[in-house]
Amino acid sequence: MDRYENIAIRAALMLIGVFFIAVIGLAILKGIDVPTCITDFPPFKEGKVIKLSDKEYQVQILARMWRFEPNRIEIPAGSKVIIYTTSADVQHGFEIEGKAVNLMAIPGAVNKAEVVFNKPGTYRFVCNEFCGIGHQAMYGEIIVK
Ligand code: CUA
Repeated sequence: MDRYENIAIRAALMLIGVFFIAVIGLAILKGIDVPTCITDFPPFKEGKVIKLSDKEYQVQILARMWRFEPNRIEIPAGSKVIIYTTSADVQHGFEIEGKAVNLMAIPGAVNKAEVVFNKPGTYRFVCNEFCGIGHQAMYGEIIVK
């Protein structure tokens, strides 16, 4: 191996290290959570919003062709929202615009994410998994006051 090969390999390994540290470090710094598939929460048959405390809400999102239940959620600014998703029929997606939430909604299974809404505004959520002819009509909004 000549000198330049050696330098190139060292540089590549160093870059991998830098990227790895950057990704892990940013995830920890920004509090980004990896969505988890949980098995202890049974699939539910209806969507609902449950107020756990003044600043904490549990939202059960039921996806079906072609709407979300509920599709309009109102919460006060500064609230933490624990989101569970499932589906009544086929596989759907659940993505909140402007937030790091991107879950699958799968029949027979439940997915979970936690997100804090500090800034007042309207946050749209959409189905991002093609689920048939009414796919583009699957959306809703979270209104933060
Ligand atoms: Cu539901 Cu696309």
